[in-house]
Parts: sequence; structure tokens; C-alpha cells
Amino acid sequence: MTDKRDDVVLRVMPRIADINANGHIFGGWVLSQMDIAGGIVAHRIAQGAVATVAIESMKFITPILLGDVVSVYAHEERRGRTSLAIRIDVVATRGAEQEQVDLTSGLFTFVALDENHRPRPLPAI
Ligand SMILES: CC(C)(COP(=O)(O)OP(=O)(O)OC[C@H]1O[C@@H](n2cnc3c(N)ncnc32)[C@H](O)[C@@H]1OP(=O)(O)O)[C@@H](O)C(=O)NCCC(=O)NCCS
Repeated sequence: MTDKRDDVVLRVMPRIADINANGHIFGGWVLSQMDIAGGIVAHRIAQGAVATVAIESMKFITPILLGDVVSVYAHEERRGRTSLAIRIDVVATRGAEQEQVDLTSGLFTFVALDENHRPRPLPAI
């Protein structure tokens, strides 16, 4: 999943309140962390406000457990005129042996916004 192009954008530990009835962490909690991390990277590239316009693909690979340290990696995968697709991978560091477990991967699209909340062209590379 992750490679050296990726930045670790967030590291966070879920709390007891984030557990669902199966004893795993809510999918919505993970999605929220991914959206925050992708938004940070998109904001940096767009040099200003962005909005999430789409989640093009999303895969939950392994459940997240209480005690996991969750790392969210993100990198630019595709760039359009006003939009950016950011690949986001989520990995847990688990247990005393610090096992690395792939959790989730998704492709989130962000649009750069102007002061009227309408799409604006991305800055030149
Ligand atoms: C983001 C928003 C301003 C885009 O407005 P719009 O009228 O759809 O704009 P456009 O049709 O010109 O599309 C803008 C860009 O988004 C891309 N886009 C739009 N819908 C998309 C989708 N479903 N999947 C992927 N890309 C999409 C377009 O391809 C275009 O990219 P490009 O300029 O790089 O070619 C508007 O949809 C919006 O405000 N959505 C709500 C955003 C929001 O509240 N998000 C959650 C909180 S951050």
C-alpha cells in the first residue's frame, strides 16, 4: 500500500467511544481521519481552500482494534484543472511487536475553491 512517495499525515489512537458493536472501530471514524489527512495534503497543494467532492474507491481490508496506533498516509495520484485525487492509505501499528497491518485504502477527490466556494484552477506546478 504505502511507499516512499507517501507522507504520514496523521497518527492517532482510536478511543473506546469509537468502537462499534463488533468490538472494532467504526468505519465512519476511519473515513473521517482519511478525509482530514487528504484535506491537509490537498490544501497544501492547492495553496488554499479545498472541498471533498468524491470518494472514488474505498476498501476496508482489516478491522481496526482498540490499542492500534493508526497512521494515515497520503499522496497526490492525479491532478486535473481544479481537482486533485489523493490516494490515502491507513496502516495500524499493533501490539508489543509493533506489527504493521494494512487497514484501509481510498482515492479521495478534492476541488480547490475560490472565495465564492466555486472551483478555482490549481496553481501551476
Ligand atoms: C466541490 C464543488 C464546488 C464542485 O462544484 P461543481 O459544480 O461540481 O464543479 P465542476 O463540475 O466544475 O467540477 C469541478 C472539478 O471536480 C471534478 N468532479 C466533480 N464531481 C466529481 C466526482 N463525482 N468525482 C470526481 N471528480 C469530480 C470535476 O471533474 C472537476 O475537475 P477538473 O476541474 O480537475 O476537471 C461542489 O460540488 C460542492 O460544493 N460540493 C460540496 C462539497 C462539500 O461540501 N464537501 C464536504 C465537505 S468538505
